Amino acid sequence: MGEEQKIQITSLGLFPYKGINLVRGVHQVQHLDSLEKFEIRGDDIVAVTYPRSGTTWTQYILSLLYHGDQMTEGSNKHPIQELVPLLEDNIRRIDYNNKPSTRTFASHLHLSSIPQGLREKGKLIYIARNPKDVAVSLFHLHNFTNVLESEPDFNIFLIKFLKGEVLWGSWFDHVADWYAHKDEFDILSLTYEDMIKDTRGAVVRISNFLGKKLDDQTIDTIVDKSTFKNMKEDPQARRDKQHPAFFEQSGSFIRKGKVGDWKTMFTVAQSETFDHIYMKKMKDVPLEFDWEL
Ligand code: A3P
Repeated sequence: MGEEQKIQITSLGLFPYKGINLVRGVHQVQHLDSLEKFEIRGDDIVAVTYPRSGTTWTQYILSLLYHGDQMTEGSNKHPIQELVPLLEDNIRRIDYNNKPSTRTFASHLHLSSIPQGLREKGKLIYIARNPKDVAVSLFHLHNFTNVLESEPDFNIFLIKFLKGEVLWGSWFDHVADWYAHKDEFDILSLTYEDMIKDTRGAVVRISNFLGKKLDDQTIDTIVDKSTFKNMKEDPQARRDKQHPAFFEQSGSFIRKGKVGDWKTMFTVAQSETFDHIYMKKMKDVPLEFDWEL
Protein backbone atom coordinates (compact mmCIF):
# COMPACT_ATOMS: atom_id res chain seq x y z
CA MET A 1 0.00 0.00 0.00
CA GLY A 2 1.40 3.43 -1.00
CA GLU A 3 2.03 6.27 1.43
CA GLU A 4 -1.01 8.14 0.15
CA GLN A 5 -3.38 5.25 0.74
CA LYS A 6 -2.14 4.88 4.30
CA ILE A 7 -2.82 8.58 4.85
CA GLN A 8 -6.30 8.24 3.43
CA ILE A 9 -7.20 5.32 5.64
CA THR A 10 -5.62 6.39 8.92
CA SER A 11 -6.79 9.98 8.84
CA LEU A 12 -9.89 11.84 7.89
CA GLY A 13 -11.02 15.31 8.68
CA LEU A 14 -9.84 18.48 10.25
CA PHE A 15 -7.84 19.25 13.38
CA PRO A 16 -7.26 22.69 14.94
CA TYR A 17 -3.75 24.12 14.74
CA LYS A 18 -3.45 27.48 16.53
CA GLY A 19 -7.21 27.85 16.12
CA ILE A 20 -7.20 27.07 12.38
CA ASN A 21 -8.57 23.87 10.89
CA LEU A 22 -5.97 21.86 8.99
CA VAL A 23 -6.05 18.36 7.55
CA ARG A 24 -5.04 15.37 9.62
CA GLY A 25 -2.33 13.37 7.87
CA VAL A 26 -1.52 16.11 5.37
CA HIS A 27 -0.39 18.75 7.88
CA GLN A 28 2.15 17.74 10.52
CA VAL A 29 2.30 19.81 13.71
CA GLN A 30 6.08 19.48 14.01
CA HIS A 31 6.58 20.77 10.49
CA LEU A 32 4.10 23.62 11.00
CA ASP A 33 5.87 24.60 14.23
CA SER A 34 9.17 24.78 12.37
CA LEU A 35 7.89 27.19 9.72
CA GLU A 36 7.98 30.38 11.78
CA LYS A 37 11.77 30.08 12.02
CA PHE A 38 12.24 28.66 8.51
CA GLU A 39 15.29 30.41 7.08
CA ILE A 40 14.31 32.70 4.22
CA ARG A 41 16.71 33.64 1.43
CA GLY A 42 16.72 36.99 -0.33
CA ASP A 43 15.58 35.44 -3.60
CA ASP A 44 12.75 33.28 -2.16
CA ILE A 45 9.30 33.74 -3.65
CA VAL A 46 6.10 32.76 -1.84
CA ALA A 47 2.61 32.94 -3.33
CA VAL A 48 0.14 33.26 -0.46
CA THR A 49 -3.58 32.57 -0.77
CA TYR A 50 -6.61 31.39 1.11
CA PRO A 51 -7.44 28.05 -0.61
CA ARG A 52 -9.45 28.09 -3.86
CA SER A 53 -8.28 31.60 -4.72
CA GLY A 54 -5.92 30.82 -7.60
CA THR A 55 -3.04 29.06 -5.84
CA THR A 56 -2.54 26.35 -8.46
CA TRP A 57 -2.76 28.89 -11.26
CA THR A 58 -0.06 31.04 -9.61
CA GLN A 59 2.05 27.95 -8.89
CA TYR A 60 1.81 27.12 -12.58
CA ILE A 61 2.86 30.62 -13.68
CA LEU A 62 5.80 30.55 -11.23
CA SER A 63 6.78 27.10 -12.53
CA LEU A 64 6.81 28.45 -16.07
CA LEU A 65 8.83 31.49 -14.99
CA TYR A 66 11.44 29.61 -12.97
CA HIS A 67 11.37 25.91 -13.77
CA GLY A 68 10.19 25.72 -17.37
CA ASP A 69 12.88 23.14 -18.19
CA GLN A 70 11.37 20.78 -15.61
CA MET A 71 7.89 21.04 -17.08
CA THR A 72 8.78 19.65 -20.49
CA GLU A 73 7.89 16.17 -21.71
CA GLY A 74 10.10 13.27 -20.73
CA SER A 75 11.67 11.91 -17.60
CA ASN A 76 12.57 15.37 -16.31
CA LYS A 77 8.91 16.35 -15.99
CA HIS A 78 7.90 17.38 -12.46
CA PRO A 79 4.52 18.16 -10.95
CA ILE A 80 4.10 21.79 -10.01
CA GLN A 81 3.55 20.75 -6.39
CA GLU A 82 7.23 19.80 -6.40
CA LEU A 83 8.41 22.85 -8.32
CA VAL A 84 6.38 25.30 -6.22
CA PRO A 85 5.51 23.29 -3.10
CA LEU A 86 3.08 24.45 -0.45
CA LEU A 87 5.31 25.36 2.49
CA GLU A 88 2.96 23.72 4.96
CA ASP A 89 2.27 20.40 3.15
CA ASN A 90 5.43 18.43 3.55
CA ILE A 91 4.15 14.90 3.18
CA ARG A 92 7.34 13.81 1.44
CA ARG A 93 9.42 15.34 4.27
CA ILE A 94 11.75 17.17 1.91
CA ASP A 95 14.22 19.48 3.61
CA TYR A 96 13.45 22.79 1.93
CA ASN A 97 16.70 24.17 3.40
CA ASN A 98 18.55 22.10 0.82
CA LYS A 99 16.48 23.25 -2.12
CA PRO A 100 18.59 25.22 -4.64
CA SER A 101 17.77 28.86 -5.35
CA THR A 102 15.58 30.27 -6.73
CA ARG A 103 13.13 28.65 -4.31
CA THR A 104 9.49 29.16 -5.22
CA PHE A 105 6.77 28.28 -2.71
CA ALA A 106 3.06 28.63 -2.28
CA SER A 107 1.30 28.84 1.07
CA HIS A 108 -2.11 29.10 2.66
CA LEU A 109 -0.63 30.19 5.98
CA HIS A 110 -2.36 32.92 7.90
CA LEU A 111 -0.18 35.94 8.60
CA SER A 112 0.43 34.84 12.20
CA SER A 113 2.19 31.62 11.13
CA ILE A 114 4.26 32.83 8.19
CA PRO A 115 8.09 32.46 8.39
CA GLN A 116 9.24 35.56 10.24
CA GLY A 117 12.17 36.02 7.85
CA LEU A 118 9.75 37.05 5.10
CA ARG A 119 9.42 40.43 6.80
CA GLU A 120 13.05 41.14 5.90
CA LYS A 121 13.76 39.06 2.83
CA GLY A 122 12.07 37.40 -0.11
CA LYS A 123 9.08 38.36 -2.21
CA LEU A 124 5.40 37.61 -1.62
CA ILE A 125 2.53 37.46 -4.05
CA TYR A 126 -0.87 37.59 -2.34
CA ILE A 127 -3.88 36.46 -4.37
CA ALA A 128 -7.42 37.06 -3.10
CA ARG A 129 -10.72 35.99 -4.67
CA ASN A 130 -14.36 36.92 -4.21
CA PRO A 131 -15.21 34.98 -1.03
CA LYS A 132 -18.55 33.83 -2.39
CA ASP A 133 -16.78 32.06 -5.25
CA VAL A 134 -14.21 30.75 -2.77
CA ALA A 135 -17.00 29.31 -0.59
CA VAL A 136 -18.57 27.51 -3.56
CA SER A 137 -15.23 26.19 -4.78
CA LEU A 138 -14.28 25.03 -1.28
CA PHE A 139 -17.65 23.34 -0.86
CA HIS A 140 -16.99 21.32 -4.02
CA LEU A 141 -13.47 20.51 -2.82
CA HIS A 142 -14.80 19.18 0.50
CA ASN A 143 -16.98 16.80 -1.49
CA PHE A 144 -14.30 15.91 -4.03
CA THR A 145 -11.48 15.02 -1.67
CA ASN A 146 -11.76 12.01 0.59
CA VAL A 147 -9.40 13.37 3.25
CA LEU A 148 -12.23 15.60 4.47
CA GLU A 149 -15.72 14.80 5.67
CA SER A 150 -18.16 15.34 2.81
CA GLU A 151 -20.54 18.27 3.09
CA PRO A 152 -23.89 17.28 1.61
CA ASP A 153 -25.68 20.52 2.50
CA PHE A 154 -24.43 23.82 1.06
CA ASN A 155 -26.35 25.89 3.60
CA ILE A 156 -24.70 24.11 6.53
CA PHE A 157 -21.32 24.42 4.83
CA LEU A 158 -21.87 28.14 4.25
CA ILE A 159 -22.59 28.72 7.93
CA LYS A 160 -19.32 26.94 8.76
CA PHE A 161 -17.49 29.02 6.14
CA LEU A 162 -18.83 32.26 7.63
CA LYS A 163 -17.73 31.13 11.10
CA GLY A 164 -14.28 30.05 9.85
CA GLU A 165 -14.94 26.43 10.78
CA VAL A 166 -13.77 25.04 7.43
CA LEU A 167 -10.40 23.98 6.07
CA TRP A 168 -7.85 26.81 6.65
CA GLY A 169 -10.16 28.74 8.94
CA SER A 170 -11.73 32.10 8.31
CA TRP A 171 -11.43 33.67 4.85
CA PHE A 172 -12.18 37.03 6.48
CA ASP A 173 -9.30 36.76 8.97
CA HIS A 174 -6.89 35.53 6.31
CA VAL A 175 -7.53 38.35 3.85
CA ALA A 176 -8.05 41.10 6.44
CA ASP A 177 -4.83 40.25 8.31
CA TRP A 178 -2.71 40.04 5.19
CA TYR A 179 -4.11 43.29 3.79
CA ALA A 180 -3.72 45.12 7.08
CA HIS A 181 -0.03 44.16 7.26
CA LYS A 182 0.99 43.94 3.64
CA ASP A 183 3.22 47.03 3.85
CA GLU A 184 5.49 45.05 6.17
CA PHE A 185 6.46 42.78 3.27
CA ASP A 186 7.79 43.08 -0.26
CA ILE A 187 4.45 42.08 -1.69
CA LEU A 188 2.43 42.14 -4.90
CA SER A 189 -1.33 41.88 -4.37
CA LEU A 190 -3.53 40.55 -7.11
CA THR A 191 -7.00 39.12 -7.31
CA TYR A 192 -8.21 36.02 -9.10
CA GLU A 193 -10.61 38.33 -10.92
CA ASP A 194 -7.65 40.47 -12.16
CA MET A 195 -6.05 37.30 -13.45
CA ILE A 196 -9.21 36.24 -15.29
CA LYS A 197 -9.92 39.70 -16.72
CA ASP A 198 -6.39 40.26 -17.98
CA THR A 199 -4.20 37.19 -17.67
CA ARG A 200 -1.44 38.74 -19.76
CA GLY A 201 -1.44 41.84 -17.56
CA ALA A 202 -1.22 39.65 -14.45
CA VAL A 203 1.72 37.67 -15.87
CA VAL A 204 3.49 40.93 -16.73
CA ARG A 205 2.86 42.33 -13.25
CA ILE A 206 4.16 39.15 -11.64
CA SER A 207 7.27 38.96 -13.80
CA ASN A 208 8.05 42.70 -13.39
CA PHE A 209 7.60 42.39 -9.62
CA LEU A 210 10.03 39.48 -9.60
CA GLY A 211 12.53 41.47 -11.66
CA LYS A 212 12.20 39.34 -14.77
CA LYS A 213 12.18 41.25 -18.03
CA LEU A 214 10.44 38.97 -20.50
CA ASP A 215 10.05 39.47 -24.23
CA ASP A 216 6.55 39.50 -25.72
CA GLN A 217 6.84 35.99 -27.09
CA THR A 218 7.80 34.50 -23.72
CA ILE A 219 4.88 36.29 -22.07
CA ASP A 220 2.52 34.96 -24.77
CA THR A 221 3.81 31.41 -24.19
CA ILE A 222 3.26 31.66 -20.42
CA VAL A 223 -0.25 33.06 -20.90
CA ASP A 224 -1.07 30.35 -23.40
CA LYS A 225 0.26 27.50 -21.26
CA SER A 226 -1.49 28.67 -18.12
CA THR A 227 -5.00 28.87 -19.55
CA PHE A 228 -7.69 26.98 -17.65
CA LYS A 229 -8.05 24.47 -20.50
CA ASN A 230 -4.33 23.74 -20.81
CA MET A 231 -3.83 23.39 -17.09
CA LYS A 232 -6.82 21.09 -16.78
CA GLU A 233 -5.30 18.85 -19.45
CA ASP A 234 -1.87 18.80 -17.78
CA PRO A 235 -1.69 16.05 -15.12
CA GLN A 236 1.37 17.80 -13.60
CA ALA A 237 -0.89 20.73 -12.71
CA ARG A 238 -3.57 18.63 -11.05
CA ARG A 239 -3.32 17.50 -7.46
CA ASP A 240 -6.07 14.95 -8.13
CA LYS A 241 -3.89 13.35 -10.82
CA GLN A 242 -0.76 13.49 -8.66
CA HIS A 243 -2.48 12.13 -5.54
CA PRO A 244 -5.40 10.04 -6.84
CA ALA A 245 -5.91 8.30 -3.50
CA PHE A 246 -6.89 11.64 -1.94
CA PHE A 247 -9.73 12.31 -4.38
CA GLU A 248 -12.94 10.86 -5.75
CA GLN A 249 -12.80 9.52 -9.30
CA SER A 250 -15.20 12.06 -10.74
CA GLY A 251 -14.37 15.76 -10.55
CA SER A 252 -11.28 17.86 -11.02
CA PHE A 253 -9.12 20.01 -8.74
CA ILE A 254 -9.16 22.47 -11.65
CA ARG A 255 -12.92 22.64 -11.77
CA LYS A 256 -14.74 25.52 -13.53
CA GLY A 257 -12.51 28.59 -13.45
CA LYS A 258 -15.33 31.14 -13.57
CA VAL A 259 -15.98 34.50 -11.92
CA GLY A 260 -19.43 34.64 -10.30
CA ASP A 261 -20.10 30.90 -10.05
CA TRP A 262 -21.57 31.64 -6.60
CA LYS A 263 -24.75 32.81 -8.35
CA THR A 264 -25.49 29.20 -9.30
CA MET A 265 -25.47 28.13 -5.63
CA PHE A 266 -26.46 31.01 -3.34
CA THR A 267 -30.06 31.84 -2.57
CA VAL A 268 -30.98 35.51 -2.17
CA ALA A 269 -31.19 35.03 1.61
CA GLN A 270 -27.76 33.36 1.75
CA SER A 271 -26.27 36.17 -0.32
CA GLU A 272 -27.77 38.85 1.94
CA THR A 273 -26.53 37.17 5.10
CA PHE A 274 -23.09 36.82 3.52
CA ASP A 275 -23.00 40.51 2.50
CA HIS A 276 -24.01 41.57 5.98
CA ILE A 277 -21.19 39.57 7.58
CA TYR A 278 -18.71 40.69 4.92
CA MET A 279 -19.47 44.37 5.56
CA LYS A 280 -19.11 43.89 9.30
CA LYS A 281 -15.87 41.91 9.21
CA MET A 282 -14.11 43.84 6.45
CA LYS A 283 -15.21 47.37 7.38
CA ASP A 284 -11.79 48.48 8.70
CA VAL A 285 -9.74 46.89 5.95
CA PRO A 286 -8.58 49.18 3.18
CA LEU A 287 -9.45 46.86 0.31
CA GLU A 288 -9.53 47.78 -3.32
CA PHE A 289 -11.52 44.82 -4.59
CA ASP A 290 -14.19 45.29 -7.19
CA TRP A 291 -16.04 42.07 -6.45
CA GLU A 292 -19.66 41.76 -7.27
CA LEU A 293 -21.01 40.68 -3.92
P1 A3P B 1 -13.32 26.73 -9.22
O1 A3P B 1 -13.54 25.65 -8.24
O2 A3P B 1 -14.23 27.91 -9.02
O3 A3P B 1 -13.33 26.26 -10.64
P2 A3P B 1 -6.70 26.88 -5.70
O4 A3P B 1 -5.70 26.43 -6.66
O5 A3P B 1 -6.31 28.08 -4.90
O6 A3P B 1 -7.23 25.76 -4.85
O7 A3P B 1 -7.94 27.45 -6.55
C1 A3P B 1 -8.72 26.58 -7.30
C2 A3P B 1 -9.64 27.41 -8.17
O8 A3P B 1 -8.88 28.03 -9.22
C3 A3P B 1 -10.68 26.52 -8.86
O9 A3P B 1 -11.84 27.33 -8.99
C4 A3P B 1 -9.98 26.24 -10.18
O10 A3P B 1 -10.84 25.80 -11.19
C5 A3P B 1 -9.39 27.62 -10.49
N1 A3P B 1 -8.31 27.58 -11.47
C6 A3P B 1 -7.22 26.80 -11.49
N2 A3P B 1 -6.46 27.05 -12.58
C7 A3P B 1 -7.09 28.04 -13.26
C8 A3P B 1 -6.81 28.74 -14.49
N3 A3P B 1 -5.76 28.48 -15.24
N4 A3P B 1 -7.71 29.67 -14.89
C9 A3P B 1 -8.80 29.96 -14.15
N5 A3P B 1 -9.12 29.34 -12.99
C10 A3P B 1 -8.27 28.39 -12.56
